[in-house]
Amino acid sequence: MVNKFINGVDAVIIAVSGKGGTGKTMVSSTLVKLLAQTGKDILAIDADPDSNLPEALGVPVEKTVGDVREELKKDTAAGNIPAGANKWDILDYKIMESVIETPGFDLLVMGRPEGSGCYCAVNNMLRKIIETLSSNYDAIVIDTEAGLEHLSRRTTQNVDIMLVVTDPSHRGILTAQRIGELAKELEINFKKLYLVLNRVKKEDEEELRNKVAEIGIDLVGLIYEDALISEYDMEGKPLIELPDDSYPVKTVSEIVDKILNS
Ligand SMILES: Nc1ncnc2c1ncn2[C@@H]1O[C@H](COP(=O)(O)OP(=O)(O)OP(=O)(O)O)[C@@H](O)[C@H]1O
Ligand SMILES: [Mg+2]
Repeated sequence: MVNKFINGVDAVIIAVSGKGGTGKTMVSSTLVKLLAQTGKDILAIDADPDSNLPEALGVPVEKTVGDVREELKKDTAAGNIPAGANKWDILDYKIMESVIETPGFDLLVMGRPEGSGCYCAVNNMLRKIIETLSSNYDAIVIDTEAGLEHLSRRTTQNVDIMLVVTDPSHRGILTAQRIGELAKELEINFKKLYLVLNRVKKEDEEELRNKVAEIGIDLVGLIYEDALISEYDMEGKPLIELPDDSYPVKTVSEIVDKILNS
């Protein structure tokens, strides 16, 4: 996998978005798998409050950014922060601590705060985290929360490549279209914005290709409904263990080649 992108000073940042349940996590975990195989430094970020990227990557999670933030809040309230200490420095340090290292890649899970805390507070930290960590990695893959809010909150405004995943459902395609439109309205200039059509049945392919041709986002890949993914799902096996020569991995590999080399 040659690419001109992963040679810069800052990481190439790839975000995966779309309606809930369309395959964001499947695409994200397979991207991480393939990028990790290049031997480059890869960070995966699970920015979905209903996080399931760690399971797909087969990585147990002890601490999320949400947890770290709660701890800091409690420490501050209890007066446990030393006088003169900068709260933001402590938070930075603690966030670094919650990066989970694995042999192939690192993982950061945003998580959600305990109790009634607003998830947006955690998610608003994402932009700063990306800025801080960008120089430490060659590529960052973000599995975003479902829907559009990461755009309106501008947490994904600094990503280079936005992959919008949709399944064949009308609502999935509508959400994808809306993501494209909203990015334009908010003047968020992704270097590249691409559509991935997932869970397609062969007999519907042509009709779906025609349908998505109208929504104004370049179709970069089409992934068929795949029995092996369903099997892994049923057995609770991490999707990162899908074999390299399996259909979905080969298809996502073609997508990686296209997005990183064009
Ligand atoms: N091409 C495919 N073939 C068969 N099953 C698939 C395919 N892509 C995804 N799935 C399955 O569809 C379900 C939803 O996929 P996934 O969890 O990746 O979506 P998501 O967009 O991350 O969902 P959420 O918004 O809930 O996080 C999962 O059970 C996944 O294994
Ligand atoms: Mg998911």
